[in-house]
Amino acid sequence: MARESWTSRLGFILAAVGSAVGLGNVWRFPWMTAEYGGSAFLVVYLCIVLLVGVPGLLAEFVIGRRSKRNPAGALARLAPGTKSWGFVGLFGVVTALVLLSFYSVVGGWILRYFAASFTGSYFGQSGAYFETISFGWEAAAFHVGFLALTAAIVLGGVRGGIETATKAMMPLIVVLLAVLAGWAVTQPGAGEGLSFYLDFDPAPIEENPIGMLRAAAGQALFTLSLGVGTMITYASYLGEDNSLAFDGSVIAVLNTGIGVLAGFVVFPLLFALQGGLTEVTAGGEAGAIFIGVAGAFQQVPFGRAVAVGFFGAILFAALSSSISMLEIPVAYLVDEHDVSRRNATAGLGALVLVTGAVCALDPGLFDFVAGTLVDLMLTAGLAGFLVFTGWILGTDALAEFDSGAGGVARSLGTPWLWSVRTVLPFFLLATLALNLYSLL
Ligand code: PHE
Repeated sequence: MARESWTSRLGFILAAVGSAVGLGNVWRFPWMTAEYGGSAFLVVYLCIVLLVGVPGLLAEFVIGRRSKRNPAGALARLAPGTKSWGFVGLFGVVTALVLLSFYSVVGGWILRYFAASFTGSYFGQSGAYFETISFGWEAAAFHVGFLALTAAIVLGGVRGGIETATKAMMPLIVVLLAVLAGWAVTQPGAGEGLSFYLDFDPAPIEENPIGMLRAAAGQALFTLSLGVGTMITYASYLGEDNSLAFDGSVIAVLNTGIGVLAGFVVFPLLFALQGGLTEVTAGGEAGAIFIGVAGAFQQVPFGRAVAVGFFGAILFAALSSSISMLEIPVAYLVDEHDVSRRNATAGLGALVLVTGAVCALDPGLFDFVAGTLVDLMLTAGLAGFLVFTGWILGTDALAEFDSGAGGVARSLGTPWLWSVRTVLPFFLLATLALNLYSLL
């Protein structure tokens, strides 16, 4: 059967933005920003997105479009004769399954809060509510629900499933968040949240420069879906050659814009209605939206409607990302082992059903997977993809970068290739070393 492709350039861009925009933007980003001192974190993170994220994104696009394969097949194919590069790609396929295992648990929480928002059942007790639902058999059951939605979309294929779903969901996410942000910033007391978020204060950088750098780098990769092979896989479905540099920039700008927009919803609510950061961190990593923001809804007029909009937006954002995780191993089985999409989706769904349930039952394991393990795997994975692009593909990578690109983009090719060969892998490996060191 002929390999599938996107119907249009816009379809590809929206699917990639859909992958990028997710719990990373609305759940992890405000939490990280809160933990690492607000505006200072925002600045460091934005720099890393620009200097490391965008070139990394382009490297994955180059690998995907050139090979028209899943990550494992792509690296094996583009480096014939050496089996070992295929393993680097396969590492990405495994990372995708690890990611989905914890992501689907959080997706389950969102699903539950979304449903509970209609009746307001967590109103007045968001802390206790989160405590009861976050881990255990009920959490596992909602994880299965979220996973089933994910699998249903992936089953529909690249065009009928992923592209159609993201085309419908992305505009809704933006509209919902924009309306909510407009409302949140006008709440009495919102100013304090905004100044925490936006007034630049370098003190946190000076206090803990290494910790912040690690967190900002991890967040930059996570939010752009890098280091797993998502962007390799999505670019492998490109039919015609357009400027990758242009598409990549659009994707990065939209992802960052939507992340920053989510901050305009979350921070005013936390400060205006919840008395600030202690509330955020009280619930650990997950507290920011599930306890802090959810707790704010009971205090506002039309709180249920606002809550439904908020958790609805996040549910769509989470789904448009989780499908991009499941699609990697599905593409791998379809491309390399001639499995039908249906069987691949069903088999992998069953696998993640179990691994996700384990995460839902064991909070300690969940924390380790969602934090440390994911940071390590994404950083290692992207370093591998960059070294591959820079040194194995080399001038072929440049040719692929240039194909379909206009004059301005072409002039960026050579500096891009050199950064991919040198500073960027070095930066990632140093981050990886720091991460490992802090583990010990
Ligand atoms: N970028 C997604 C988010 O922000 C997460 C993700 C990571 C998706 C890696 C795919 C691959 O939620």
